[in-house]
Amino acid sequence: MKKEILKLRNVKVHFPVQAGVFNRVVGHVMAVDGVDLDIYRGEVLGLAGESGCGKTTLGKAILRLVEPTDGEVTFVSKEDEETELTSLEKKDMDPFRKKLQIVFQDPHSSLNPSFTIFGSLQDPLKKFGVKSKEERRKIIGDLLEAVNMRREYMDRYPHEFSGGQRQRIGIVRALCLEPELIVCDEAVSALDVSIQAQVLQLLMQLKKDKNLTYLFITHDLSVTEYLCDRIAVMYLGRIVELCDSEDLYNNTLHPYSEALISAIPVADLDKKTERIVLEGDVPSPVNPPTGCPFHPRCPKAKDICKTEVPKLKKYSTSGKDHYASCHLIDLPERS
Ligand SMILES: Nc1ncnc2c1ncn2[C@@H]1O[C@H](COP(=O)(O)OP(=O)(O)OP(=O)(O)O)[C@@H](O)[C@H]1O
Ligand SMILES: [Mg+2]
Repeated sequence: MKKEILKLRNVKVHFPVQAGVFNRVVGHVMAVDGVDLDIYRGEVLGLAGESGCGKTTLGKAILRLVEPTDGEVTFVSKEDEETELTSLEKKDMDPFRKKLQIVFQDPHSSLNPSFTIFGSLQDPLKKFGVKSKEERRKIIGDLLEAVNMRREYMDRYPHEFSGGQRQRIGIVRALCLEPELIVCDEAVSALDVSIQAQVLQLLMQLKKDKNLTYLFITHDLSVTEYLCDRIAVMYLGRIVELCDSEDLYNNTLHPYSEALISAIPVADLDKKTERIVLEGDVPSPVNPPTGCPFHPRCPKAKDICKTEVPKLKKYSTSGKDHYASCHLIDLPERS
């Protein structure tokens, strides 16, 4: 039986847009606009979509690194105890901050340049009760070795590392508190391909060893295929398709996912399908289009798409649940 670790209900993050000399609020960026999502214990859930669609904001909202404007994020413990994180006082979040960690998209932002790696990483360990310095050094050293770095690197400063090394240090930082779920925000995108493969392998090994759950954020659907159990595709702050990762490629339901998949480079020319070029940029999340937010760029759009917002409905492909929000899907809806 699959058990949830996190339940997201109607999560919204709207950032105010200020203008003029008085900094008046003139609108809102709907970065995340009503996300319902269950993440199951032990799974790798991919979160994909173009730049600016709200992936990082959603990841941060889960950890309350940005405050959700609306909606609920509920953590379910191993003992099935539910805690609504969004209603907790900031100070009561601490035990959950230990269980939920993030590997930041930009590894610079998670390391203090004036501290050594040990200096930066030991604080949370201290806070959560690892009293002896020797023990803190051992935990950090062991993890550095686990990500193929030398233990003695902990006494160096962030500027002494390459981007790829810093990203691996970001993984160590996320792992040192023995979390249950890690949000990996583009954790390998800045790495070159050979190191990418190495770090991905490492993440998967760590997941197995430590029984972790990953929310794996990426804009690159070619990485997610082999890595993720399920994939959620986001567009303008909403989830437009959510299904088993194989089904996303073999039984694509949403035209947006279809376009993203057609853009994946393939080495095998026989398999190459025609690339669907998406016209224009992602529309502004300040003034999202009416109807289906994807309709201005959708090659299949009909009249209804311009006026009615499609709901995320449940279908079934390959015998599994498959959610998509598009008016043009010709499959029976499941209850
Ligand atoms: N602190 C903020 N204040 C105002 N707007 C913000 C803030 N953070 C993000 N945004 C806006 O919210 C939207 C979503 O941003 P987000 O960083 O979540 O996108 P993303 O999907 O992670 O993109 P990328 O793939 O480029 O990392 C963007 O339009 C962005 O400009
Ligand atoms: Mg991002």
